Amino acid sequence: MISLDEFHLIRDYIEKHCGIHLTDDKVYLVETRLTTLMIEQGCKTFTELYRKSVNDKSNALRDKIIEAITTNETFWFRDLHPFGILNDVLFKELTDKILAGERAKIRIWCCACSTGQEPYSIAMTFQDYIRHIPGLRPEHLEILATDISSTVLFLGKLGRYDNLSMSRGLSEDYRNRYFETSDNKIWTISNEIKKMVSFKKLNLQENFSHIGKQDVVFCRNILIYFSMNFKQNILQRIATLLQPNGYLFLGASESIIMYTKEYEMLRHAMGLYYQVK
Ligand SMILES: C[S@@+](CC[C@H](N)C(=O)[O-])C[C@H]1O[C@@H](n2cnc3c(N)ncnc32)[C@H](O)[C@@H]1O
Repeated sequence: MISLDEFHLIRDYIEKHCGIHLTDDKVYLVETRLTTLMIEQGCKTFTELYRKSVNDKSNALRDKIIEAITTNETFWFRDLHPFGILNDVLFKELTDKILAGERAKIRIWCCACSTGQEPYSIAMTFQDYIRHIPGLRPEHLEILATDISSTVLFLGKLGRYDNLSMSRGLSEDYRNRYFETSDNKIWTISNEIKKMVSFKKLNLQENFSHIGKQDVVFCRNILIYFSMNFKQNILQRIATLLQPNGYLFLGASESIIMYTKEYEMLRHAMGLYYQVK
């Protein structure tokens, strides 16, 4: 059983390296998520696991601890509204500029992409949008998908999903159009969608200005895990990264009004999104 002192040791270690803020009611969560790793590593206590990780110069054990603690829950077209807003409002605004020769492409960043359902849902929405618009091509949208976890990035890049994942949020029409299967058990996303997304490892605690200006940022279902200070810090850095009047999407249960004054809240149909001021 994990002691409160051990919990505090590991809690501070996790917050320092990935920003995830664990309150005292998460003692049981840390214990259950780290027990297998502790045993696998031949450690008898959580303190031993912590020390082993601190002394591991490769940081491989630290990455495993972070992976065990993070929640990778995701599904296709999650919350629906962001994809409706892209389709009804933002793609029109941004592609009009492409057609007018005022810009070369649209850049969207998914900053906590998990196993790829979110960036691929954006890619499918764009493919659908451009179908009947001469002059627009898939290459006009560049999607950067990043995450702290190498495992989810590997799976996202593979683009292979089982029936359970496929049953969560994906319409039959999209499944038939954008996926292939040989056994009706594992489905592979088509190359036309896959090549619109590049996956890269990125910890939001680190400087991300090198990824360059973005038109839209998806920062969904991740801020909830961070402290108030870290939320503010990330939102400020995203505001700097966005093009003037660029857009930000959050998860359905997340709001930023109390953390930052840099964005204006907008509404379309039942969905909310934010524009940098
Ligand atoms: C709950 S998933 C959200 C996935 C997707 N955005 C969605 O809304 O469906 C949260 C993701 O954030 C990633 N994550 C946690 N801490 C992170 C950090 N410091 N930097 C980058 N990604 C992080 C996790 O690995 C996980 O895949």
